[in-house]
Amino acid sequence: MQHSEKIVILDFGSQYTQLIARRVRDLGVYSEIKPYNLPMAELKANRPNGIILSGGPSSVYAESAPLPDQQIFELGVPILGICYGLQVLAFQLGGQVDPASHREYGRAALQVDQAADLFYAINSGSQVWMSHGDHLTRLPKDFKVIGHTANAPIAAIRHRSKPIFGIQFHPEVVHSEKGREILSNFLFRICDCRGNWNAASFVETTVEEIHGRVGDQKAICALSGGVDSTVSAYLVGRAIGRRLTCIFVDTGLMRLNEARQVRESYKNAPFELICVDAEQRFLTRLQNVTDPERKRKIIGEEFIRVFEEQARQLGDTPFLVQGTLYPDVIESISIKGPSATIKSHHNVGGLPEKMGLALIEPLRELFKDEVRLVGAQLQIDEHILQRHPFPGPGLAVRILGSVDKDKLNILRAADDIFIQELHRSSWYHQVWQAFAVLLPIQTVGVMGDERTYENAVALRAVTSQDGMTADWADVPHELLAHVSNRIINEVKGVNRVVYDISSKPPSTIEWE
Ligand code: XMP
Repeated sequence: MQHSEKIVILDFGSQYTQLIARRVRDLGVYSEIKPYNLPMAELKANRPNGIILSGGPSSVYAESAPLPDQQIFELGVPILGICYGLQVLAFQLGGQVDPASHREYGRAALQVDQAADLFYAINSGSQVWMSHGDHLTRLPKDFKVIGHTANAPIAAIRHRSKPIFGIQFHPEVVHSEKGREILSNFLFRICDCRGNWNAASFVETTVEEIHGRVGDQKAICALSGGVDSTVSAYLVGRAIGRRLTCIFVDTGLMRLNEARQVRESYKNAPFELICVDAEQRFLTRLQNVTDPERKRKIIGEEFIRVFEEQARQLGDTPFLVQGTLYPDVIESISIKGPSATIKSHHNVGGLPEKMGLALIEPLRELFKDEVRLVGAQLQIDEHILQRHPFPGPGLAVRILGSVDKDKLNILRAADDIFIQELHRSSWYHQVWQAFAVLLPIQTVGVMGDERTYENAVALRAVTSQDGMTADWADVPHELLAHVSNRIINEVKGVNRVVYDISSKPPSTIEWE
């Protein structure tokens, strides 16, 4: 996507790469993460105002050490190397990197040797965050030291005449007290950015680009009712209007009243909406299936079938809109390579290949909270924007074991009570996601004077930034007690409620 200003971040595998991108965008400059070995032609085509080399877990001397094309130093584009990024540029330009005698992890005090450019208005003594085993022991030719710490005599360097800088610490983490100022100096003093990127400019640029790409052709979008697909649909809708058709598939695995709400919520949307009632076919195919991966595969396949049928009816539609976000793509572009499949997430996965559709993914560089800002800019209802994420396979992965309509109804009722009470107590927006899970066991209870032998429900509420890691939310005990009481009293078939206190990792957010 062509933005008026852009910083390209070359990713060497740091756990903080995404944070760098966030910080840069928070400062008003659009940034994109690219693999470290991005071909030179592509890098140039991006016309970056600056390049940041991220940190990474490798040592530059390792046999398979990731190194960028050496030509990046000849482009005349400002470069900032961070941690491993500093070592990369020093190594490639002829300096020496060695294992540090004191490995440095955590806090250090930055001593500024030249308070200009990158360190403009940065005083000595501020805390910076280190995380490295190797460090620079000899400067490359024409470089000088602009900062040091107690354990790293060369903690920050710059080229004497070219705009090439390197810092051993991580300015992107909050523990580096002046990190934001240092990144801001790089963007505005060194790269000469103006900082005019925000949700409004994102909408404008993206709508223009989609308009240019789609022309007078048609597009379809699988709309789930969640934030990502909704914001994508509105963006594309704004660009091509009613030539966009959104398809909402009611799988029968939705939450209480969800299908009805979706129909109502999009009444005035700038696109066509087709709601497909596919409950029967999904439930039939899921009959007696207990294995979580089988369930996911079946739902994914059935989804594709429904979608294919709809696309065929529409005819002559070359584009598919998807609400893919940055955390969804990170594994495919990271130098760490695809990680083991833990769960087959389906984001209508496989559709374009099978159906020969070209993808439009307007949000693929953004994080959820940024998507919410874009959504607000598009004046999408707050209640859609602030909804918790909901998995594509729906309640099927929250009913452990086989799925049927009775179980779905029990779970829907229990889940709805939990969500209602979270809203009522203002906890809904303090957690990333909350839901109920129907366990495949019966437990003994006593109601009135009668013995009962009924289902157990687990409640899960987690805090998270992006769903990749999460912790269980410390929801007040009184609230949990109230929810438990209501579920046991109001939902026929449940006589026990438990609360899930597992973090991710080692658990995952969903139970299947
Ligand atoms: P896990 O359970 O893997 O979930 O920790 C992380 C986040 O992803 C959601 N999730 C899914 N979303 N299709 C989706 O669109 C899926 O198949 C899927 N599985 C999990 C989950 O709800 C959580 O927010």
